[in-house]
Amino acid sequence: MLPYKSLIQLDRDSSIALYIQICNNFITLITKGILQPADILPSSRILADLIEVNRNTIKLAYEELISQGWAESIERKGVFALSNLPIRSTNKMDHELEKFKSDESFIWNKPPEISGERAHFKKLNLTIDGGFPDVRMTPVDLLMREYRSISRKFYGKDFLKYGNPKGSERLRIILSSYLANTRGLVVNPENILITKGSQMGIFLSAQLLLNPLDHVAVGVSNYNAADETFQYRGANLVRIPIDEYGMDVDYLEDVLREKNIKAVYIVPHHHFPTTVTMIMERRLKLLNLAKEYRFAIIEDDYDFDFHYNNKPYLPLASIDHHHNVIYIGSITKTFAPALRIGFLISSQPFVEAATALRHMVDRQGDSLLEEAFSALFENGEMERHYRKSLKVYKTRRDLFCELLQKNFNGVIDFKIPEGGLAVWSVFDKNIDLKKMSENALSNGLNVEDGSFYKNEVFNVNGIRMGFASLNEAEIQQALDILKKSL
Ligand SMILES: Cc1ncc(COP(=O)(O)O)c(C=O)c1O
Repeated sequence: MLPYKSLIQLDRDSSIALYIQICNNFITLITKGILQPADILPSSRILADLIEVNRNTIKLAYEELISQGWAESIERKGVFALSNLPIRSTNKMDHELEKFKSDESFIWNKPPEISGERAHFKKLNLTIDGGFPDVRMTPVDLLMREYRSISRKFYGKDFLKYGNPKGSERLRIILSSYLANTRGLVVNPENILITKGSQMGIFLSAQLLLNPLDHVAVGVSNYNAADETFQYRGANLVRIPIDEYGMDVDYLEDVLREKNIKAVYIVPHHHFPTTVTMIMERRLKLLNLAKEYRFAIIEDDYDFDFHYNNKPYLPLASIDHHHNVIYIGSITKTFAPALRIGFLISSQPFVEAATALRHMVDRQGDSLLEEAFSALFENGEMERHYRKSLKVYKTRRDLFCELLQKNFNGVIDFKIPEGGLAVWSVFDKNIDLKKMSENALSNGLNVEDGSFYKNEVFNVNGIRMGFASLNEAEIQQALDILKKSL
């Protein structure tokens, strides 16, 4: 008999029932080839003694194993691993798996590799990220309470069925009044498509607006993932300078006289990566140009909620009278990046088209999650969380900037950001950011090496330094390590 006492690992504190754990252990033994097809399983009495559980638990585990089709019970003989399971020998399996590591013989459209710090950060206690929220503050318990409560209700079962690809109607209704109250954006629920974050909105817009070889205007510095999304569509990027007032719309106008630009992608609230806010005069000019030259504006307002000094600017979409703007937002930065809820807002025909396209790649969002978020918006918890975060992040921003000023004078050039969750920090040109990032890593701190922000024309020795996800003690500690790593 196999050494089941050591082979079967149980976590008695887990919320997963013991019989399910035992069943899963047997499945692993079978799939790994440790238990071969037609092998007999130990009797429930012997196994119960060995691993110190009730005999009925083993019986339940075997019943589960049988009902899942891994084992069979033969009268008066016992329980056996199914004889005709398509399980291969371990060696052969390893060989088969090796094959998947090499390139195929067919041709496909390779997207660029995933770049940015998210892909490379190690699991460390301290990380200066690119500007993410502090998920320790996320009221996930409240969200889960709503989730549980809806799923338990009779009507909650409906949310387990296929639902509306446009997203929960309840969420779209509450969002339409939320957007009107917070940013003067007056839209019908029908003008809203719930997406899985802003990135999906960028992707859908790129697909719908652009054809291969079309021109799309973007900032000289720009959100790298947006650039890649447009390029993957086959579009050509036309780089427009960004200064301290936002995108240079006069330059854009000159370009428009010569080139047919199909769309302009812009982050007017806090430009990525430099965090500058576009001034009103330029916003109005951009909207007029869009009307005159008939291009679409993809307005990425991914972190609207965080503005510290005064009231945030209204989005372009709120002052667009000619329906040129596709407004993209999300709550991933305000709530938690992993809870993928965003929105795309535009004219009804565009939203219908975006819905049809989304339906092809991801039939619909997570209806239950969307309902749970609706409840948090309705009962004011979302608002409370925003307010609390804003206050905490402002204190963190101020401390972060104060320490930068004090300890990195002459080394880091930066402006205190009016909004967002990061400081755009330009390092002295003699500092090798790659080396600094490696040094920091060996000192226990993740920090970017700047490569994410560079492109064919933008080559500034800078990184975004997120202040929001670190508490005050951690900010001190992280900046101490950073200084040591220079
Ligand atoms: C400028 C910009 N747009 C969009 C996104 C994507 O955000 P989401 O998580 O909502 O997809 C990010 C994420 O960092 C971003 O920085």
